[in-house]
Order: sequence, then C-alpha cells, then structure tokens
Amino acid sequence: MHSAQRTDGAAAHGDTSWWRNAVIYQVYPRSFADADGDGTGDLAGVRQRLPYLAELGVDALWFTPWYRSPQADGGYDVADYREIDPAFGTLEDAEALIAEALDLGIRTIVDIVPNHVSSEHAWFREALAAPPGHPARDRFWFHDGKGPGGDETPTNWTSSFGGGTWTRTTGPDGRPGQWYLHMFAPEQPDLNWNHPDVAAEHEAVLRFWYDRGVAGVRIDSASMLAKDAALPEVGEEHAPGRHPHFDRDEVHEIYRRWRKLADSYEEPRLLIGEVWLEDTDRFVRYLRDDEMHMAFNFDFMSRPWDAERLAESIRSTFAAHATVAAPPTWVLSNHDVTRPVTRYGREDSSFAFADKRFGTPTDLALGARRARAAALLTAALPGVLYIYQGDELGLPEVEDLPAEAREDPMHFRSGGVDPGRDGCRVPLPWTATGPTFGFSGGADTATWLPQPRDWGGRAAASQEADPDSFLTLYRRAIRLRRAEPALRGDAFAWTETTPGVLAFRRGEDVTCVVNFADAPAVLPAHTAVLLASGPLDTAAGDARLPKDTAVWLRT
Ligand code: GLC
Repeated sequence: MHSAQRTDGAAAHGDTSWWRNAVIYQVYPRSFADADGDGTGDLAGVRQRLPYLAELGVDALWFTPWYRSPQADGGYDVADYREIDPAFGTLEDAEALIAEALDLGIRTIVDIVPNHVSSEHAWFREALAAPPGHPARDRFWFHDGKGPGGDETPTNWTSSFGGGTWTRTTGPDGRPGQWYLHMFAPEQPDLNWNHPDVAAEHEAVLRFWYDRGVAGVRIDSASMLAKDAALPEVGEEHAPGRHPHFDRDEVHEIYRRWRKLADSYEEPRLLIGEVWLEDTDRFVRYLRDDEMHMAFNFDFMSRPWDAERLAESIRSTFAAHATVAAPPTWVLSNHDVTRPVTRYGREDSSFAFADKRFGTPTDLALGARRARAAALLTAALPGVLYIYQGDELGLPEVEDLPAEAREDPMHFRSGGVDPGRDGCRVPLPWTATGPTFGFSGGADTATWLPQPRDWGGRAAASQEADPDSFLTLYRRAIRLRRAEPALRGDAFAWTETTPGVLAFRRGEDVTCVVNFADAPAVLPAHTAVLLASGPLDTAAGDARLPKDTAVWLRT
C-alpha cells in the first residue's frame, strides 16, 4: 500500500495547519479497550471505540508504541517497528484503524523511540552474538570495562530509571565480556547515532509509517540521542550542548533531516518532541523552523495548583514560543505521570518523578475540582491541547495495585520506593457494571492491571448523560474550542484581577477566569456563561466564582 500522496486527510480538514490548535488524545493501547477479551487492550478495541473519540471531538490520536515488544517498559522497548505487537493485533489492523479514524476526521500519530531498541531487536541479538570489535556491535555502545579484568562500568552515568547505565555481557565461554550502555532499563540498549545504519533505519521507519497515512510522530526521549563518544563522566557543569549524553548540539542534525523527510509529503508530517529541559532557550532550539513542529510543555504540567506559578509558566511559555513558529502545547498528564485528580488533591500538587512515594495523603474531591478547572484553563489557552486517555473521565491514579501486579521498571529499579507509573495505566472503565467495566467486551477476564472495584461510577457510560460529569465537561469544552472563533485564534490578553485569580481574554468575546483563592471571585461583566467547571456561587445575588473553579464567559 502506498498512500504517501494521500490528500484525503487534508481535504477533510481543508488545511495543512490543522495541528496548530488541535486537540490530541493519547491512547495507551494496552489499556484503552480490549476486543478479543484477553484482558489486554488492542487495536480492534480502539476501532470499536472510534465513535466515542469522534464524539469527544479530538483531532488526532497519539498511540504510545504499538510495535512488537517484550513490554519490558510498556512497549518503549521496540523489537520490530514494522510489526504490531501480536497482543495488539496486526499491521492490517493498524492500517484499518488509521483509515477508519481518518474517515471520522481523526488523524493518527505514532510513537518513535530512537534512543534505544529492545534487547530482543535483531540488531542487538546480532551484536550480542558477535565478538568484541565486530561491526555489529558498533550500532550500540559496547565498551570494555575499567579496572582490573574490566570489572568496572565504563562510566558512572545514572539512569533516569534509577541505578547505573551499563550491563555486562557474557561471552560464549561463559566469561564476563564487554559492557553495553542503556540509559533506561537493561532491556533497552542505547543506539549509537554516529553509525550510519542507525540514521538510515530510522528514516526508513518514518517513511514506513508516513506511507501508511500517519500524520506525524511523537519522538521519545528526543534530547538524549547524541552521546560524547569519548564517554566522559558527567561533571558539575557543562557548557550548553556539551553534556556527555543529554541535549548535545549535534542531536539537532537528526531532526533537521527528519523535518526534510516529513516536509516531502504532500500533507507534511508532524514531529512532536518529548523534550524534558528546564532551560527554555535550550527547549525552543528543538522548535526552530527546520526542526520539530511542537514539543510537550512539561514545565506547565509539573507546576503546583497555584495562580502565580501557573501564570508564570503561561507567560514564559508564550515568551519562549514567540521566538519560533511552533505553537505552545498544554499537557496535564500522560502515561508517565501521576493523574491530575490525584496530584491536585495533595498538599504538594507539583509533579516530579523523584518525589513519588507511596502513602501520600490525597483529597480526591479537591483534586477532582481542580482537575476540572485545569481542564478548562488549558482548553482555553492558544495552542495545542493534549489529553491523556482517562483524564476525560476524571480517573484518579490507582495507588493500591497489588505488588504482584506492578510492572514498571521505575518501581523496581528504585528498590520499590517509587510506586512507578502503573497507577496511571490501569484499563479504562467503559460500562457501570461487569467484571471489567466493559473494558474486555463481555468477557469475564482479568485485566492486565486490576481496576478498582468502585470504578463503575467513573465509567464512560455512567458519565454520558450526566450534565455534571467530567466527560460532559470535556466534550463541551472541546466543542466550544472548535466552535468559538475566539478560542480557535491566537489572540490572548491577561485581564486585571485580584490576587489568586487568573483571567484572560481570548479574541473578541471570550474570557476565561480561574479562581485559586479562598474567597469567591467577582466575575467580569459578561452576557453569558459558556461553560463552568463547577457550580457558581449565587448567594450574594450576582454569580461569583468559587475557589478551584474555572469559567468561560461571553464578554
Ligand atoms: C519516555 C516515555 C517513557 C519511557 C521512556 C523510555 O520518557 O514516555 O514511558 O519509559 O521514554 O523509552
């Protein structure tokens, strides 16, 4: 099948800049919907639920990796990019899904994991079977150890999953051999991007999916690909772009080549970066005109529920993006972070991987109120809105998973101190009743991670007809975002308010107000309330905005 030059998507939307204010919904296929009843989500399940996604009103779906994988890290250990994991279906299923979604006006974005592959990938198996010095090893970072007998790791770099970054191989004679580098789990050997095969293979993989009609790629761990081949230790400070393994200047060459490839399609394909960088100047370098189209705004996502801290992030996001053509993005969560309903219900409502602990006191009712307000706040901002599956249902983090159900390497590599990311990856509830709340069709099966027994009320079907539900709020917000010219445009202006209240005007006639302060806030003059995240306070006569509530007004 060769659909490189398909134009039906562009025709459906009528332009090639549809993505600049898009709503992009993240699907974690393993936990979205299970059509074959084995307790694991699959692509057939997503196909069955496409009408739900169309009704929600999203413009595109981003799928976390659906390729063949031993699932040592939830699919971010890819064994073969040209095959769908058998647990999820077949390549034909993926092609059908892409086409059916497009018929509903929904584009597909796939995940590319260029920093590493699975230890089951053909290249790595070949490398392991080859002797030291063999060219098959040059596609990775194989190295002799230091010290007598080569017993010490080549560097003391630390993994973002905790622990070291080198694993020692064993030779055919059973004797310890060279070490190989893995910035994540040992099942995820890092690729050597100085090797021409690595670049060529990724460009072929991009074409493979672009030719199948995908609208773009989300690029995993995008700032980590380039490494200093001299393997120096990480020091206290490095000149910008000269860190041994992070955000090195030469990484940009890769995305420049990818951008040329993406632009060679009649409907240019998108590059979306997973770039965790505190320095906004370094961050926007990835968004220069000849590089990525956008990157996730983790700064905003990580901030606590606090008017000033969030306003500051919005301001710095705009300032940074003003220097490039890329639109800002607004992200409340994803498959790696604590669900907003839980996070915002805590005394410290910021997000940091290093701070995750079991037993953190949480007020879920408070968190839900704030998460609803946060949904309206982000949906009112100019740029691209990302929604992680289940956030539209107001699902909390599942914190009491049985120990034996946990799978995340972050949990295990922390010695069990970090709860890990399983709690935001629990299969979705679709119906109020049934053994899997409709996740596995009618099947009486165990889902791959157990669902809390009280999730019936949070199920999509339970929320559908409820005017006050999370799902109704998300549907209305997305519909208005599309229908209101003011919300579709870029115009944004802060409005004067009292401390603890954020207010901004969009375009000619829409104002968003969010109250973080204790006292109910007086609303600016308006002709109508378009949408509110919670009930307004009418005790004083005129309607006021209670604490932790957001409203969209016609002004
Ligand atoms: C990204 C992914 C995360 C994964 C890691 C390694 O951060 O979002 O889920 O574990 O990369 O691929």
